[in-house]
Amino acid sequence: MAEVFGQELLAGKNAIVTGGGSGINFAIARRFAESGAKVALIGRTKEKLDSAADEIRKAGGTASGHPADVRDYDALAAAIKSAREALGEIDLVVCGAAGNFPAPVLGMSANGFKAVVDIDLLGTFNTCRAVFEHLRRPGASIINISAMQAFTPMPMQAHVCAAKAGVDMLTKCLAIEWGPDGVRVNSIAPGAVDDTEGMKRLAPTPEIKKQFTRSIPLRRFATKDEIADLALFLSSEAARFITGAVVVCDGGQSLAGLGVNMMAAMQPRA
Ligand code: COA
Repeated sequence: MAEVFGQELLAGKNAIVTGGGSGINFAIARRFAESGAKVALIGRTKEKLDSAADEIRKAGGTASGHPADVRDYDALAAAIKSAREALGEIDLVVCGAAGNFPAPVLGMSANGFKAVVDIDLLGTFNTCRAVFEHLRRPGASIINISAMQAFTPMPMQAHVCAAKAGVDMLTKCLAIEWGPDGVRVNSIAPGAVDDTEGMKRLAPTPEIKKQFTRSIPLRRFATKDEIADLALFLSSEAARFITGAVVVCDGGQSLAGLGVNMMAAMQPRA
């Protein structure tokens, strides 16, 4: 990683990443640090955050962990305040904390549905709401991590579909309300990403993974670094006129419909 330090696209920027202790969000935090930003990681588990921050520091970046559950507004606001004290005014925010489990509607309780909506949707609202007073405006950027479930109804995913659809609408409403303050708000909707907790839950066997892959025109899963590259672009000056966008990064999977299914049927080699 060290050799890419020096690409200072985000030099002088301070970033908060929720869910930053692992997975896609950690890859984003690491990419931000490689690009010159100081990063604060927020998540539920202190040990996970400490080890993630340590990894970034060992590679030459600046990172610290600030534990909080995004569902708990007061605890989250306190963690954001401590990140602000560690970093200074905040330029970049990534709302990535999320939860998921595959279950049919009749297989989940009201509390199971609420757990996911509270982490994904309320947690994103809480983060945006609590961070606003700490943002360096104008020029700040917020990225909410969405998913294809936001616009593709899926069995076993009613809770995630409802929550992520809400996240994207929240992104657009905030883009309108905070645009005049110079704050950009966008969503990233990743498709299937390799080596993540989410995909381990949704594609737990090689057979299911193979079926998933056949529905992706680019015929493979994304890497976490590919999502991090998109987050880097959206957070950088290069994206300074982009706000309220839901940017899909899924190898074409959300185009799935008759055309993609026919292609998979006609080309069973993948
Ligand atoms: N099927 C049906 N219901 C389930 C379930 C499953 N596989 N897993 C959890 N639930 C239900 C629980 O039974 C509980 O409902 P109940 O109180 O009526 O029994 C409810 O969800 C909350 O579960 P709990 O484990 O107490 O919540 P939590 O806040 O500790 O965990 C989850 C939240 C459920 C989302 C958990 O999977 C999690 O922490 N995930 C984080 C990691 C993750 O999902 N990463 C992928 C991101 S895409």
